[in-house]
Amino acid sequence: MYQLSFNIKTPDGIITLSQQEFINQYWQKKPALIKSGFADFADPISPDELAGLAMEECIESRLITNHNNEWQAYHGPFGDFELLTPNNSTLLVQAVDHWHPDAAQLIEPFRFIPNWRIDDLMISFSTPSGGVGPHLDQYDVFIIQGQGKRHWRVGESTQTVNEVIPCKDLLQIDGFEGCIDEVLEPGDILYIPPGCPHEGYAVENAMNYSVGFRAPNQRELLSSFSDYLIDNDSGNKRYSDPTIQLRSNPGEFLQNEVNDVKAQMINALNNDNDFNLWLLQSLSEAKHDLDLAPLEDEFDEDYVRELLSQDIEIHRLGGLRCFYLSTEDAVLFAVNGNVLTLPNNCLAWVKTLCENVTMTSDQIKSSTSCSHFIQNFTNLLNEGYWYFD
Ligand code: SIN
Ligand code: CO
Repeated sequence: MYQLSFNIKTPDGIITLSQQEFINQYWQKKPALIKSGFADFADPISPDELAGLAMEECIESRLITNHNNEWQAYHGPFGDFELLTPNNSTLLVQAVDHWHPDAAQLIEPFRFIPNWRIDDLMISFSTPSGGVGPHLDQYDVFIIQGQGKRHWRVGESTQTVNEVIPCKDLLQIDGFEGCIDEVLEPGDILYIPPGCPHEGYAVENAMNYSVGFRAPNQRELLSSFSDYLIDNDSGNKRYSDPTIQLRSNPGEFLQNEVNDVKAQMINALNNDNDFNLWLLQSLSEAKHDLDLAPLEDEFDEDYVRELLSQDIEIHRLGGLRCFYLSTEDAVLFAVNGNVLTLPNNCLAWVKTLCENVTMTSDQIKSSTSCSHFIQNFTNLLNEGYWYFD
C-alpha cells in the first residue's frame, strides 16, 4: 500500500500539507512538485512487463521518438521494440490499472478525489532524452517518478502558448515559461492541473506513472444526454405555442420564443429521474477495455452466501468504475455503465463496495441477510466485476 505525503517544494523549503490544504492551494489551481510523495518508492511493474502489455491488441499504447529533433509517433500493439532505442524514445501504455493489479495500487492514495473523477493509470518508459515534448493536457494529472530520473519543466496555465504538430498524431506546443524545473527522483510526484504546459525528458532510463482524471465538457455531456433520451424514448415533449404572437415581418423570431425553446431544453435536463440515471450511467462507462471474464458456470445466491461465510478476500476488477448517488427515494449504484436503483437500506453495502478495491468477507458479511445484496452481488460476481482468488 502506497502512502502519499504532500511534501510540497516551495521557495521557503518543503511544506507538508493535508489533503484539504492541497486542494485549497493547488488542486485545479497551480502545479506542484511533491518531493518524496511516496517514500522508498518501489516500482510495481518492470519495463519488460510494460512492453508485454504494449504487445496486446486490446491495450492502447504509443511509442514516441525524437531523434535529431525529429519527432515520430507510432501506435501499438507492437510486435517488437526496435523503435525503443537506447536514447530519445518513450513507450506509453494507457489504462495499465485495468490489467496489472499491483500497478493499479498506485491509484489508491489518490482516492481523496472521488471515484467518478478518477480516470486511469498511464505508464511510460523512457530512454535518456526521451519524452513526448512540450504539450498541454485537458485533465489534472499526478505524474509519479518511478525508477530512473527525469527532468521536468511545468508552467502556469495563465500563459499563451501556440500549438504545433511536429508529426502525424502528436500535438505539442512551441515553448513556454516554466515555474517548476526539476530532475525528479523515485517517489517524487508532479501535480499538473489542466492546461498547464509541461515537458519531461529522461536523464536515465525512467518509469513514470500518470494518475489521470476525468472532467467531461459541455459538448460531451449534452451529446451523451441526447443519446440517453433517444435510447430511453424520453424527452419527447415538443415545442408548442397556443398563444403565438402576430408580427409585422414573418421573418422575425421573437426573444420570448427563443426563451421558450431554451426552457423546453432545460426542462428535459430538469427531469431528475432521467438526469440522475443518465449521469451515473454515462460517467461510470469505461473508456478502455477491462480484463472482464464473466463466469461460465454462474454462482447461485446460496453458494455466494456460503462463500462469504468463509474467510476470503474479494477484489474489484481493475479499473472498474463504481460510485453511488444517495437520494431521498433510493440509492443509485453505478457500475461500469449500469445503474442499480436500490432501497435506501442498501447504502451500507454499496458504500463498502465503492470504498474498497479489496475487501475481506468480514467487511461485507453483515449484509448477507439482505436479499437485495445477495441477489445483486451474485450478479456482480457472475459478470466478473468482483472476483476472489
Ligand atoms: C510521459 O510520461 O512521458 C508523459 C506524461 C505526460 O506528460 O502527460
Ligand atoms: Co502530459
